[in-house]
Amino acid sequence: MNPNNLQNSEQNMTTNHTSPQPLSPTAQSTLPSSPTSDSEPRRVIQTFMKRKTHMGKKAEAGLQADFAHFFVQPDLAAIQAMDIEGITNLRALFTNAEAPLTLEIGFGMGASLVEMAAAAPERNFVGIEVHEAGLGNCAFLAGEQQLTNLKLISGDAISLMKQLPSAHVDTVQLYFPDPWQKKRHFKRRFVTPERMAVVAAVLKTGGIFHAATDWAHYAHWMIEVMDSLPAFSNVAGNNSEGIGNFLPRPDFRPLTKFEKRGIQEGREIYDIMYHKL
Ligand SMILES: C[S@@+](CC[C@H](N)C(=O)[O-])C[C@H]1O[C@@H](n2cnc3c(N)ncnc32)[C@H](O)[C@@H]1O
Repeated sequence: MNPNNLQNSEQNMTTNHTSPQPLSPTAQSTLPSSPTSDSEPRRVIQTFMKRKTHMGKKAEAGLQADFAHFFVQPDLAAIQAMDIEGITNLRALFTNAEAPLTLEIGFGMGASLVEMAAAAPERNFVGIEVHEAGLGNCAFLAGEQQLTNLKLISGDAISLMKQLPSAHVDTVQLYFPDPWQKKRHFKRRFVTPERMAVVAAVLKTGGIFHAATDWAHYAHWMIEVMDSLPAFSNVAGNNSEGIGNFLPRPDFRPLTKFEKRGIQEGREIYDIMYHKL
């Protein structure tokens, strides 16, 4: 999509957005493909930019020994190094290993993940983030609720999923991922065919991929990527043109920090849910 058209396309979105229109042919041609050709050395393109931010009191406390049981990594050095070596089984982290397992990618400061885990004690949750303050804050909040069904990992979700067994997870959730709005950054978007193939591999048959975003361009992009993958089927069905629908906002998804910001800035919220076939 021509970046100059992006603002217009967002202004043109209607409030009833359960039935997406096709992206323009120009937009379709911007869908991500393999980032390098055979003649170029393969460079890993990350979906995140690790940022240094102020550590609040809760975040600092959450990284101390009292909260270490929420972390899969054994110590602060491994958390800071985002060292995920040897993390190859998320189910084994819990005593009730057979309970349905949700993996949340990029939980930010963690309040909504903790709220979800507290509301669903029959499920297990693993959250993965690269943001140190978010990891500490989330562990602190989980401690306040004395959760036993939540574990946290510091690191890159794609690298983690690549080392998990196939059909390991029941739900992968991705709430308000970085929108990477500039065309030259589209390749950093989490939802690309290559990255979603990694998600498809870790999901069980019948498992769920649930994403939400407040960026209209990314919402339509996600639908287009997901529709193109034979491993997935849209839970909300397709519109008359065969394009996957958006999902009405589900009650079980708590309001997140970035969602709140999007609403305050006047953006629509889009939920996207696909079954793994
Ligand atoms: C825009 S924030 C949204 C945070 C939260 N979900 C919310 O809605 O408030 C996106 C988060 O995803 C994290 N992230 C991006 N790519 C990631 C990856 N590959 N693995 C783990 N976390 C990632 C970033 O560090 C960032 O905190």
